[in-house]
Amino acid sequence: MRIELTPVGTQPDILAIGMPEADPYNVPAVVVQAFGPAIGHMLEDEDFTGKAGTTVEIASFNKLCRRWLLVVGTGTGSNDDLRHAAGVAADFARSKGARALDLTLGGAQSGPDEWVRAVVEGAIAGNYRFDKYRPEGERKHPTKYFRVNDNGGQADAAQLGKLHGLAQQVARDLVNEPADAIYPETLAAAAVALAADNLKVEVWDEHQIQEAGMGGIWGVGRGSARPPRFVHAKFTPSSGAPKKKIAIIGKGVTFDAGGLSIKPSSGMQTMRCDMGGAAAVVGVMSGLVALDPDVEVHAIFGAAENMLGANAYKLGDCLKMYNGKRVEVHNTDAEGRLVLADCLSYASELGVDHIIDLATLTGAAVVALGEHYTAMYTDSDEHAADWSVAADAAGEGLWRMPLEPLYREKLKAKWGAIKNVGGREGGSITAALFLKEFVSPDIPWAHFDIAGPAFLSSKDRYLDEGATGAMVRTILRYLEAV
Ligand code: BES
Ligand code: MN
Ligand code: ZN
Repeated sequence: MRIELTPVGTQPDILAIGMPEADPYNVPAVVVQAFGPAIGHMLEDEDFTGKAGTTVEIASFNKLCRRWLLVVGTGTGSNDDLRHAAGVAADFARSKGARALDLTLGGAQSGPDEWVRAVVEGAIAGNYRFDKYRPEGERKHPTKYFRVNDNGGQADAAQLGKLHGLAQQVARDLVNEPADAIYPETLAAAAVALAADNLKVEVWDEHQIQEAGMGGIWGVGRGSARPPRFVHAKFTPSSGAPKKKIAIIGKGVTFDAGGLSIKPSSGMQTMRCDMGGAAAVVGVMSGLVALDPDVEVHAIFGAAENMLGANAYKLGDCLKMYNGKRVEVHNTDAEGRLVLADCLSYASELGVDHIIDLATLTGAAVVALGEHYTAMYTDSDEHAADWSVAADAAGEGLWRMPLEPLYREKLKAKWGAIKNVGGREGGSITAALFLKEFVSPDIPWAHFDIAGPAFLSSKDRYLDEGATGAMVRTILRYLEAV
């Protein structure tokens, strides 16, 4: 994919022009020249409002572009609306099999850098489809060339937008792949494939996991014919003296059948998405070397398949975790927290300043916030604020939830130190409280439950049904700002 800022000579297949809500019919002079003055009236006739993402498609017959003039609403002109408009235009371009798309969306409300980034990110996200297993005739090639007419913005901004957009796409691909293609070994291999001089990747197999005492990852993974893996990648920035050290942990349950507490078929259908946290970690990893943030990043995930094999972990088991605590199992479908717990305790030994984890952890988070918001849990107001700023810049929904210590008693165990479930009420909160028990109390920690936004049950504006790459761009924004 090539992203150009200024015309490159070749005529695009599609020209998308952005019109704001405030003045939706005042089309640019070049367009009036090519299509005639009636074009503004035509938009009125079509009841075009300029609301973000609304469109009018006009066959162009080689006027300004080869095939289609797409008038697209840019709403208020905010970065979010521009991302949306670009996404819709790129979605249209792919549906028409266009090779080159010209995006003249206007903008500059927030300076050239930010809006160019938003347009490029939106275009990459909207152009994305996971159709490799569809019949040949029903697949459309992605658009190859995007030209963003930015009226003098910086090339760096376009490149940053591309870097963030493609990192998000890495995560989407990993999640959309069926569990038969992405299982612990292949998920670990995806991380290994990104290794570089300044990005060292270490993988532990099931024997090393057991030897290390990671009873959570082993417990969840042992019921599958596909054994678990533990992955730790370390990124060293070129400065050699990083301003900060952070551990980023992901839940990598490559398929969640629920274990012996088996899920109903309907709930299991999309459970290949249950490695969305680990996929986001790999997506972030894919952007690190080029972005080179001044942060030492430890990218960590536990990968396991939660199955019901003859060797599966059982209800009533008291798993001995990496930090020595015993977890009493009351539901084998509350497996994500067991995988994460070992990763959190391991990360607590690395001398980092901050630990975060990302996980498709609870149905309760989906019920509470739906598909547009990640649930954030942290005791640190300062970190909560930083993460909210990063999410706003990336245009991702993030909502802080209470890490209410009063609910800790719901996890009280009889036979071990803690139960792995705390009941229906506040299920996303008790899951977070469970995780907290495995993080060193001296290290500020934030937990992101992405069960809602990681995987869409139907198309959302310009994001196709399925994986979204939730939180990848927010994390890259956060790292960039350190
Ligand atoms: N992977 C699921 C959570 C999930 C649900 C992710 C829907 C994405 C969409 C998790 O492992 C799970 O099964 N959680 C249980 C916990 C319960 C048994 C305490 C849940 O949320 O029902
Ligand atoms: Mn589960
Ligand atoms: Zn799960």
